[in-house]
Amino acid sequence: MKAPINLSTPTSIAALSRHIGQTVTVNAWLTDKSGKGKLQFLKLRDGSGFVQATVFKADVSEEVFEAAKRLSQEQSVIVVGEVRADDRAPGGVELSVRDLSPIAETVGEYPITPKEHGIEFLMDHRHLWLRHRRPWAILRIRDCVQRGVTDFFHSQGFVRFDAPFFTPNAAEDTTELFEIDLFGEDKAYLSQTGQLHAEAGALAFGKVYTFGPTFRAEKSKTRRHLLEFWMIEPEVAPSTHAQNMDLQEAFVSSLVRKVLSECQEELGLLGRDVSRLAGAAEGNYPRVTYTEALEIIRTHIQTGDLPPNVQPDVQPVEWGDDLGAPHETILGYHHDRPVIIEKYPAGIKAFYMQPDPVDGRVALCDDMIAPEGYGEIIGGSERIHDYALLKERIEAQGLPLEAFEWYLDLRRYGSMPHAGFGMGLERVIAWICGIDHIREAIPFPRMLTRMSP
Ligand code: 4AD
Ligand code: MG
Repeated sequence: MKAPINLSTPTSIAALSRHIGQTVTVNAWLTDKSGKGKLQFLKLRDGSGFVQATVFKADVSEEVFEAAKRLSQEQSVIVVGEVRADDRAPGGVELSVRDLSPIAETVGEYPITPKEHGIEFLMDHRHLWLRHRRPWAILRIRDCVQRGVTDFFHSQGFVRFDAPFFTPNAAEDTTELFEIDLFGEDKAYLSQTGQLHAEAGALAFGKVYTFGPTFRAEKSKTRRHLLEFWMIEPEVAPSTHAQNMDLQEAFVSSLVRKVLSECQEELGLLGRDVSRLAGAAEGNYPRVTYTEALEIIRTHIQTGDLPPNVQPDVQPVEWGDDLGAPHETILGYHHDRPVIIEKYPAGIKAFYMQPDPVDGRVALCDDMIAPEGYGEIIGGSERIHDYALLKERIEAQGLPLEAFEWYLDLRRYGSMPHAGFGMGLERVIAWICGIDHIREAIPFPRMLTRMSP
C-alpha cells in the first residue's frame, strides 16, 4: 500500500533517501529538462541537493504531463512523487512524479543555459550562478569551514571577540588602507586586521578569536587577493611563538578533517582529489626557518627541480627580501601538507612582532604555506610585550603615536607575552576545494575588477 500524499510539509531532497517507497512533496526549482514521447525527465534542486524526477504519461493526468513539458529552466515548482532507490543516481534516489504544479511563472529566458559560459559572464550573473552545482558545493564547504572554526575554538575554551570594522590605526602595510572620511573632521580606516583589538581581548579574556571581514586596498590582480576577505584571528595571553604554531596546526588540520568527513558529496562534485588532503588532515606540518627556506629554494632553482606552474627563470631570494608566490609554490610543492616558514627578517614584517632573542635580525613569526601552489594561508607571530620596545618600533615605522596610545596601554598595564595569527578564510577554502581562483570561495567577491552584483 502507498503512503498517503502529504502536500503540507515538503521533504528536502537531501532527506529523500530516508523516504524510499513513500510519496513525498518537494518544493523545487527546475535546473534542466529532457524528454521523449511519454517520458519527461526533470532535473530538480531545492537548495539541499539535486535529484531527477521522471514524469511518465501513464502515471499522471493529461494536464500534469503538459505542465511538466511547459516548465522552463529555474521555474519554481511543487512536485509530488514516489521516492525510488536508484544506484546510478547521485544521492541514490529518483522521484516518480504523481502530481506537479508550478509556483511562479518565469519572466523571460533564464540567462545561464546548460552550455559553457565564460567566468566573467558567470560572475556578472553571480546572483543566479549561486544556484548551480559548482558554487553550491564550494559555498557549502565554506559553511562547513565556518562551523569548524567556531567548533574548534569553543572546544578549546576561546571566547569569540568582535573587532571593529572602522579602525583608527593601520596594523599591516599602510599602503593597503581604505580611508574613510568622517564628515570632513577626521578620518578612520576600514580594518585590515582585527589583531590589535584582539590583543586587548586576549588580555581581558585569555583566549579570544575574531571572525569577520577585513579590507585591503590591494592593487594586485592575482588569484589570491580580494579587497574584502574574511579573517579568523585567534589571540592568546600568555602564549609563545612555539605554542602559536602548534595551535595553527591543530586548527587547520581540524578544519580539513571536518570537511573531509562532512562534505564528501560537495568535494566529489568539484572533482577534488581528496587523497591530496590526507596529510593536511593528519597534522605534523613541517617547519623550516626563513633562512633554511632560502637554501631550499636556491637548491631547487639550481637543479631545475621546479613545480610545473613555476617559470624556469625564477630567481633565488636574497636574505632580507620577501618570498614571492613562485617561491612559496616551490616550498609547498614537495610536501603533502602545509609547511610552516618561521623567523622571517624583522625588516619585512609588521612592527608589532617580537624579535628572536637568539638572533635579533629575525622576528618570532611564521607563515603557513598551503600545498599545491595555494600559497600563504596564515600569518602569525608572538607580539612585542615590552612597552619601550613597542613604542620605539611604532616611532621607527613613522606611525602616528597618538593613534597607538590605547595599544601601548596593553603594555603599560599587566603586559604579558602573547601571540596569535590570522587565517584567510577564502584562501583556505580555495585550497580545500582545489579551485584555482579565490573569487569563487566567497558569495560575492570584491576585487579591483569587480564590485557587482
Ligand atoms: O599575513 P596577514 O597580513 O596577517 C595579519 O593581518 C595579521 N595581523 C594576522 C594576525 O597575526 N592576527 O594576513 C593574514 C592572512 C594571510 O595569511 C592570508 O591568508 C589572508 O590573511 N589574506 C588575504 N586573503 C585574501 N585576500 C587578501 N587580499 C589577503 N591578504 C591577506
Ligand atoms: Mg602575511
